[in-house]
Amino acid sequence: MSGGSFNLVPKNVPKVDSKYRKIGTKIPVPESIPILDELRKYEPVSMTGQPPIVWDRAEGVSVFDKWGNKWLDWSSGVLVTNAGHGRREIVEAICEQAQHGLLHNYCFPSEIRARLAKRLVELSPPEHEKAFILTTGSEATECALKLARTHGRSVGGDRKIGMISFSNAFHGRTLGAQQMGGSPALKEWIVNTDPSIVQVDFPDGFRCKETSFDHFLGQMEGQGVTPDGICGVITETFQGGGASFAPVEYMQSLRNWCNDNNIVLICDEIQAAFGRTGTHFFGYQHYGIVPDLITLGKGISSSMPISAVVGRKDLLDQYPPGSMTSTHTGNPLCCAAALTSIDLIETEHLVSNAGRVGEVLQTELQNIMHDYKDIVGACHGKGLVAGLQVVEAGTESPDSQLALDVVQGCIEKGLLFFAPVGFGGGTVKIAPPLVITEEAVLEGIGVLRESIAEALAK
Ligand SMILES: Cc1ncc(COP(=O)(O)O)c(C=O)c1O
Repeated sequence: MSGGSFNLVPKNVPKVDSKYRKIGTKIPVPESIPILDELRKYEPVSMTGQPPIVWDRAEGVSVFDKWGNKWLDWSSGVLVTNAGHGRREIVEAICEQAQHGLLHNYCFPSEIRARLAKRLVELSPPEHEKAFILTTGSEATECALKLARTHGRSVGGDRKIGMISFSNAFHGRTLGAQQMGGSPALKEWIVNTDPSIVQVDFPDGFRCKETSFDHFLGQMEGQGVTPDGICGVITETFQGGGASFAPVEYMQSLRNWCNDNNIVLICDEIQAAFGRTGTHFFGYQHYGIVPDLITLGKGISSSMPISAVVGRKDLLDQYPPGSMTSTHTGNPLCCAAALTSIDLIETEHLVSNAGRVGEVLQTELQNIMHDYKDIVGACHGKGLVAGLQVVEAGTESPDSQLALDVVQGCIEKGLLFFAPVGFGGGTVKIAPPLVITEEAVLEGIGVLRESIAEALAK
């Protein structure tokens, strides 16, 4: 995921004062420049990829700075705050746990970790009997890779260690996760990549027009890969970059093929779970399949850093006591946040809200695509996640500058996105907290339309 660079020169922008947005200063705010300068001085350059607004507090669908500005958030802070930003119930659960007096417990047993592991399994289909709680999404990806490979060796010997993943996929930035990613530029640093990790096209119907499962088989054959050399297949349930889903029949054929060849099917649900795609709690449920392992992160707690691998008992139980652990596994504060966030998603019916309000969002975005068909090559998504793939007029080449201009324009009008993502940075990704109302969606759509029109008129 790459972001464009944002200008730090404060610019006069029209004042905004609506129900969901308030902009009353130059953007970036002149008083915020010393903070932005400090970040640029003391953090790696790689950390400068997001719009230069200094977050002070956030609540529900709103992000505030210290200078009276308020943004309607369509980022969920990179798809984390599913139950909304700064939920009082989550704050109270974290405080209660902290005041109770247990801030850390490593792998020593704790009641709160037991509650979360049980809850994650109970949310899952019967095939998923175990949950291993970790800290980051990349850590969960690495663990899933290790479990698939360990299983492959046990059923097929040292030859059955290959992993198949997809072009343009993103699974994290650590060594294994990055190699399973599908953007060659992001793994140049590795140089001696593992030849047993191979990619095939993701059947999104836009970047890859060929969406039949035969194409998968053909590409395997073309790369000289046979099932007896493969231990696992990993795919994001929807590809994060463009919010693209594979066809249902494709995923069902993939499921059958994995069954037939004793191959572990992993769905990376780090963006897709916890109601994000509407209608279902987990994104893979849209395909009518059950993966062998899923990875969870981001929206699991709507706040604190926590992730998990959930799946088949025989896969998760492959390592003996003490040999598959992590220092911060099931940190009590993170567990408290996750349990409360899951409760909120359930009691406030946020999965169905994401389905219902998501339909309005998806329809409005399709209308935008229709009105701007020259520069919107595709618009994929489900529920409350979508990606507008911005292209050079009349072509399919990503237009990262135009996507950046659209996002920049929205920021100046009080609608918050993270920097354009995906293939060439040409996608405007839309992912509001699941508590968003139809009214707020429609207000945001109006802003997005204005910004597209202005970016094109530039
Ligand atoms: C689909 C997916 N998998 C894995 C990751 C890695 O998660 P983390 O950044 O928590 O390591 C991300 C992060 O963006 C992601 O979107």
